Amino acid sequence: MKSCVSVFIALFAANCFWLEASSHLLSRRPSKFTMVWGFSWKNCGKQDDPAQLKTLSISPDPISIPGQLTAAASGSTSVALTSPLSVNVTLHREVVGVWVKIPCLDEIGSCHYPNACDLLDQLIPPGQDCPEPLRTYGLPCHCPFKAGDYAFPSSDIVIPDVELPGWLTNGNYRVQGILGSADKELGCLEIGFSLHSSKK
Ligand SMILES: *[C@@H]1O[C@H](CO)[C@@H](O)[C@H](O)[C@H]1NC(C)=O
Repeated sequence: MKSCVSVFIALFAANCFWLEASSHLLSRRPSKFTMVWGFSWKNCGKQDDPAQLKTLSISPDPISIPGQLTAAASGSTSVALTSPLSVNVTLHREVVGVWVKIPCLDEIGSCHYPNACDLLDQLIPPGQDCPEPLRTYGLPCHCPFKAGDYAFPSSDIVIPDVELPGWLTNGNYRVQGILGSADKELGCLEIGFSLHSSKK
């Protein structure tokens, strides 16, 4: 009889623990998932642009935000990339078959970033180690970037539950980024994808 009671107590305690753990998980579960389908990319600059991306692979398809993705990339630059570097982003969304340019809203959209090196320094304070997996592969995360070849081996990356702006609605998008220095184009990258948000 005594052992029967203790088994019951143990089961009850385990049950309480499990309930607590699952409600904790439930409350942490994000209310919204965004799926990114059909990721594609291409260089869009001139053949002799000094900075070129050579390979870029991102999986799975779709990518879930929040979630996890696997990415690998390689590229090269024939000139050192030194501060100040400008990045001009143009974002287009397909609206009934027509590509419409989206203006710059709260630093997202078709924006001109005059100093990308400063942005990197704000994101990752200088003097601090570069975040993983950059550190493992000895890849730099601050300007200047020396001329040469860069390779980012296939790595798993956790995508946090970032809040996307409300106007970034479902649909097809095309983003062009032009890297420049003193108004000279150094490289151009275009990516395409489809966004699909769902409430869970
Ligand atoms: C980026 O845009 C700015 C402002 O429109 C322009 O002055 C600059 O020349 C552009 N840079 C490149 C490299 O195209």
